[in-house]
Amino acid sequence: MGYRSAKRFLFLLPPEDAHSISLLTLSTFPSLFAECCPPGYAGKMGMLSRSVFGIKFSNPVGMAAGFDKNADAIAAMCSMGFGFAEVGTVTPKPQRGNPKPRMFRYEQHGALQNSMGFNNKGLAHLIRRLKASYPARIPIGANVGKNKDTPQKNAMDDYLLMISEAKDLCDYLVINVSSPNTAGLRDLQNEEFISDLFSSARKQTGRPLLLKISPDLKASKAVYLCKAAMDNGASGIIATNTTVDYSIMGGSKGFGGISGLPLKEKSIAMLRELSSELYGRIPLISVGGIFSGDDAYERIACGASLVQLYTGFIFGGPGLPLRIKTRMIDLMEKNGFESIKDLEGSSLRR
Ligand SMILES: Cc1cc2nc3c(=O)[nH]c(=O)nc-3n(C[C@H](O)[C@H](O)[C@H](O)COP(=O)(O)O)c2cc1C
Repeated sequence: MGYRSAKRFLFLLPPEDAHSISLLTLSTFPSLFAECCPPGYAGKMGMLSRSVFGIKFSNPVGMAAGFDKNADAIAAMCSMGFGFAEVGTVTPKPQRGNPKPRMFRYEQHGALQNSMGFNNKGLAHLIRRLKASYPARIPIGANVGKNKDTPQKNAMDDYLLMISEAKDLCDYLVINVSSPNTAGLRDLQNEEFISDLFSSARKQTGRPLLLKISPDLKASKAVYLCKAAMDNGASGIIATNTTVDYSIMGGSKGFGGISGLPLKEKSIAMLRELSSELYGRIPLISVGGIFSGDDAYERIACGASLVQLYTGFIFGGPGLPLRIKTRMIDLMEKNGFESIKDLEGSSLRR
């Protein structure tokens, strides 16, 4: 069944049910949507490979956090042609998340809005799943957060516990302080907390440690925060999470975070700000509104080393990673770039 027919069915369902069915299908039949590379491109895929923070990526297109929160579908991410996948956000204890409905689909806008609130099966399940799947055929990131009922003053303990337990079962770790759906979480986007957390985490592991930031930070604050993370051992920055700027989409709800096409402009704006200050000093991963090879190409040209997507996958389906990759190769050939490394930051040099 092509994704077009599957999508017609899935989009009749409430978005969270559609998500559960999709994830169950992908975890049960990981090769169902195995990528089938057209002959003309098979020999060119090497153009997309590269190393970032000491890890080799066969291509720069990753699945963003939130889709496979509990690391149940890692094998499917590999077979669909993603270059890496980020699982989580996972918290130390399992938690149900916010009341339903908490995921909304805006087909006409190419957007989702969610207030999931870190629904996840917790650290013990994550460890079991990672032990079964790690190392995978592609790099795996573990995105970590704090439990809703952990007092703010103990937030650091949750992050450090997650890092110490997961560090040897993934390729990189992401500190998520930018989800809008856990009360007070974004308050942790302050220099003191980030500096302390990264310096403590760095003492626990040599694995790449990344910070994921919100698109709603003022640019100067975002740069400041990223520098604090960098000065204390961060290996990369992921920009961005979902936005609570409801003005970007007519008909949006007044809660949760918006993702997908309406987020694109904000996500690019943040990437440009970060690139202008930090390009060449720390790898940047761009996420937010990436739906096509043109989008991915533009982000890399603007200084991103890698890209991620979530909402684009919901709208574009399992064939999207391959479509993005082949289009990137076409664009790179047309514009004379032999490798992703060549393309990276090219629009900053103009
Ligand atoms: C339903 C949903 C759940 C998400 N859950 C998480 C999460 O648990 N942790 C996280 O860091 N980001 C989460 N995200 C944010 C995505 O990883 C991504 O940063 C954001 O959606 C922007 O990318 P996109 O426009 O490609 O979706 C979630 C997004 C959606 C739509």
